[in-house]
Amino acid sequence: MGLVTRAMDIRSALKSGIARLRAGNVLSDTLTAELLLLHATGRTRTSLYSHPEDQLSECESENYFSLVEHRAAGVPTQHLTGKQEFWSLEFEVTPEVLIPRPETEHLVEVALDRLALRDLRAKGSQNMSGEGLLIADIGTGSGCIALALAKELPAARICALDISPAALVVAQRNAGRLSAVIRNLTERVTFLESNLLQAVSSRSPLAAHHPPLRFDLIASNPPYISRREAPSLAREVRDHEPAVALFGGEEGYELYADLIAQSAAHLKSGGILVLELGHDSLPAVHPLLESPAWVNASVSNDLAGIPRVIAAEKT
Ligand SMILES: C[S@@+](CC[C@H](N)C(=O)[O-])C[C@H]1O[C@@H](n2cnc3c(N)ncnc32)[C@H](O)[C@@H]1O
Repeated sequence: MGLVTRAMDIRSALKSGIARLRAGNVLSDTLTAELLLLHATGRTRTSLYSHPEDQLSECESENYFSLVEHRAAGVPTQHLTGKQEFWSLEFEVTPEVLIPRPETEHLVEVALDRLALRDLRAKGSQNMSGEGLLIADIGTGSGCIALALAKELPAARICALDISPAALVVAQRNAGRLSAVIRNLTERVTFLESNLLQAVSSRSPLAAHHPPLRFDLIASNPPYISRREAPSLAREVRDHEPAVALFGGEEGYELYADLIAQSAAHLKSGGILVLELGHDSLPAVHPLLESPAWVNASVSNDLAGIPRVIAAEKT
C-alpha cells in the first residue's frame, strides 16, 4: 500500500490505519493506530474522540500514514514515538536500548520489598528515603531500573553501569529529563561504562562518598535470550532491539555466573542481589545462589506465572 497523503478526517484516518496495521500482522492494531495518530498530530486522546470529524491537515495525514507504514513493516511503536512509560515515568527509547518491559517493574518491586524487609528485621523500622544506601544497576540500558529506584529512594546513591556507551548516552539523557521530577537526581546517579562490575574500583567517583565501594543492593536485568531462539523472536525484537541487550549466549543464561560471582564480591554483608530471569533461566541460575555466599534466596513469578525475579542476601 502506498502512502496516503490526502487530507481526511480523524475517524477515517483511524479506520484506515487500523486496517493497514491489521494487514501487517500488528497486534493491538487499534491502540497502535491511536498512539501513532496522537504522536503525528500532537492532539490529546480526548480531542481525537470528541471531534472525530475534524480534518487532518495534509502534513498530519502524511506523517501519520508514514508512521503506520513503518509500524506495519515491523518497527516497534516505541521507536516511532521515541518513548515508553516505566514505573509511571516517561523514558526516551532509541534502537540503542532495550524498550523497558512491564515485567521489569516487578524487579523494582522485589528490590524495594527486600530492602524494606531487611530494615524491618535489622532495625524494626524502614529506611524510606534510602539515606546511606549505595545501589548498582548492571546493564542499565535506558536507565529505567536505576531511575525508578532513584524515584522511590530519594536519598540513595546509584551507580548505573552498561557495556554499551550508546545505551549510556540515552540513559544519561533520561536522567537529565527526569531530574525535573526526581529529587537531586543528577547528584545521586553516576553512569559508568563497564563490563558487569569491572569498572567499579577505588577510582570510581562514587568511592569518595562510600569508601570502600560496597553496595547495599545490586539489581540487574541482564541479556538472557538464547541465540538459538533468535529465529522465533518477534520481528520487532529480533530486527530492531540491540543484540547486546537481548542475547546472553548460546544458552541464554551464560552471564549469570559472572554476574553473581562479581556481585558477591561487591555487596556488603547483608546486601541484596535482585536479578530478572529469562523464561527458562531458573534451573541454571538458582543453584548459583545455593553457595555459602548467599542466604534467603526467593523467586517470584510474573503475571503470566513465569519465575521472573530471583533475589538473595549476601552472607
Ligand atoms: C536486557 S537489557 C536491560 C536494560 C534495562 N536495564 C531494562 O531493564 O530495560 C540488558 C542491558 O545489559 C547491557 N549489557 C550486556 N552485556 C553486558 C555486560 N557484560 N556488562 C554490562 N552491561 C551489559 C546491554 O547493553 C543492555 O543495556
